Amino acid sequence: MNSSLSAAPPTFLSRVVSLLLAIKPLAHLAKQKARQMMITRSESIGVPWRDNTQALRSKGSEAVDFDRTWDQDLAHLTNPSLTYPPYYIISFHGYDEGNLGWLPAMEVESASRSVHAKLWPDLGAAGDAHLRSLYHDSLHAALPQAPRRILDLGCGAGLSTFALGDRYPEAAITGLDLSPYFLAVAQYRSQQALSQQLRSPEPPAHPAPNPIRWLHGAAETTGLPDQSFDLVSIFLVVHELPQSATLALLGEAHRLLAPGGHFALMDMNPSCEFVQKLPPYVLTLLKSTEPYLDDYFSLDLAEAVQGAGFEPATIAATGPRHRTLIAAKPSPA
Ligand SMILES: C[S@@+](CC[C@H](N)C(=O)[O-])C[C@H]1O[C@@H](n2cnc3c(N)ncnc32)[C@H](O)[C@@H]1O
Repeated sequence: MNSSLSAAPPTFLSRVVSLLLAIKPLAHLAKQKARQMMITRSESIGVPWRDNTQALRSKGSEAVDFDRTWDQDLAHLTNPSLTYPPYYIISFHGYDEGNLGWLPAMEVESASRSVHAKLWPDLGAAGDAHLRSLYHDSLHAALPQAPRRILDLGCGAGLSTFALGDRYPEAAITGLDLSPYFLAVAQYRSQQALSQQLRSPEPPAHPAPNPIRWLHGAAETTGLPDQSFDLVSIFLVVHELPQSATLALLGEAHRLLAPGGHFALMDMNPSCEFVQKLPPYVLTLLKSTEPYLDDYFSLDLAEAVQGAGFEPATIAATGPRHRTLIAAKPSPA
């Protein structure tokens, strides 16, 4: 299950980067600088990062519809009996609080649009939507019929869940995430979309998707009933997990799917040219914000998926740097 990436010996420069990152004040400075560069770059390509965050923070400006404070939303969505897995309560993406805070939750959409703007230089900030639509094209081609019950594992602030709702407006969709902060933003975004649609004098171009159910939980132990979904989708999550959690979530997805249901996973493609040619010191820097990248890169996903009881998976490139895996749960003969 090893890939050449994790086996590559560290270069002198990557060792220096590792040593520098181990010095806390230096690492902090580097993070601040990287963050500033990301915000400036985003705003220069038409993603109004700071305005977006400010608009979310002050949702009170639309108080007629949204009369609950963020903290009230958080309390409402938090599952008090959930215990966070230790691998989750660490720093991610340059945020000391990892995924458990308002700033990461309110910035994730801008970050996603900014990072994916590099995928197709001519698309710029529309790259994120294009990546999601390529995933859905592959899914559409692979599924024998439109799924009626869909689970989006690691739904974050809802970007992947809303894309599912747009493609399958008649489906009952559940978005599940370990961060109640992300879920609060996702819920607000869906209420906001509904409220805008109700206020619009124009009839909607498409039927409004069903309301989404937002759940606070771990993808590997959802507590949801056996065989209760036709599609389990997981978009840009597995690179954030240690292998043990990925293996557990594959078993959980298998349990949750009805026979003949599908599991679909979209994430970084370790064998793409971009990753293969990453200078080792850049990879070291990347791993400082994505702590389980080695686990992800070195896992043979097709083998793991089959080991969880699925039929052999198809894996295909999705754009220049990502891949989509789709596998069916066998139907009884
Ligand atoms: C990079 S975000 C992707 C969010 C979303 N799927 C999207 O496409 O924008 C990864 C998300 O996975 C969530 N996550 C990570 N580990 C998880 C786990 N074990 N169970 C549920 N959610 C998890 C994080 O909280 C975060 O919201």
